[in-house]
Amino acid sequence: MNTTETDSNRLSDKHDVYFNEDYLYFGDAVHPPEVSDRHTDAIWKILALAQGNPVLELGCGYGRITNRLAQKGARVTGLDISPVLLKKARTDAAESGLDVEYVLGDMRSLPWRDQFDAAFLWYLTFGYFGDADNERVLRESASSLRKGGRLLIDHINIFAVPNHGAPICYVAQRSDDLRIDMMSTEVLTGRGHCDRLIVRNGCIRRTHLYFRLYGFAEFARMLRSAGFESVDAYGEEGAAFTSDGPRLVIVARK
Ligand SMILES: C[S@@+](CC[C@H](N)C(=O)[O-])C[C@H]1O[C@@H](n2cnc3c(N)ncnc32)[C@H](O)[C@@H]1O
Repeated sequence: MNTTETDSNRLSDKHDVYFNEDYLYFGDAVHPPEVSDRHTDAIWKILALAQGNPVLELGCGYGRITNRLAQKGARVTGLDISPVLLKKARTDAAESGLDVEYVLGDMRSLPWRDQFDAAFLWYLTFGYFGDADNERVLRESASSLRKGGRLLIDHINIFAVPNHGAPICYVAQRSDDLRIDMMSTEVLTGRGHCDRLIVRNGCIRRTHLYFRLYGFAEFARMLRSAGFESVDAYGEEGAAFTSDGPRLVIVARK
């Protein structure tokens, strides 16, 4: 295994290609509206949000959560690197008469200081870079939060990822079109890969996403060093953490 930190940072340059119009097209097939409603309720509860709280979503995608949080009364800002996804987020917000601030930007360099009551990265949105840049995302998040603010990260639970070598396939379908994700992990580096095959209108496209998988102890070390005072672990959608559950949900307080 000879992948280096530099290689993994280079892979991050592909995100605006991976999170593209195809990603948007399969959005509702992967997350039907009732699932997005449930995710929004879980985030509201885990972060103990109240009406009027300023909240930041990093990697907000096409705004399926951001717009719903605004509907529930939070003052929401969403940041994403994909212009295509942000356009859809803004259009949906405008059509529903929602006041949401959408910002095109990179989560490694944020323009806010001591501003938000809460921030979050939902649905495998943390870990896209090499370790140094991933830690930078945590430091930037800490700087954007006011004292006492909370950061939530929804991450894969590495203890529950099978390591037998064969990729695990997930298929999303919309009419005759398919999105096939082949997920695999490298045990020694803690890296995950998603090789994505899009079959749409008779054409096939391939993309690849790299992500780093962290355990709770690594998160706790990185978050404390980024300026957070406490770090807690939960399971999927805020349930109790279990070592065989699919998710590790981190809540850190500044
Ligand atoms: C897995 S999607 C999750 C989207 C959203 N959180 C959700 O639950 O629907 C990850 C998002 O992170 C965004 N992203 C990737 N790299 C980014 C970066 N460097 N800065 C900001 N956003 C980024 C992608 O464009 C994509 O919208």
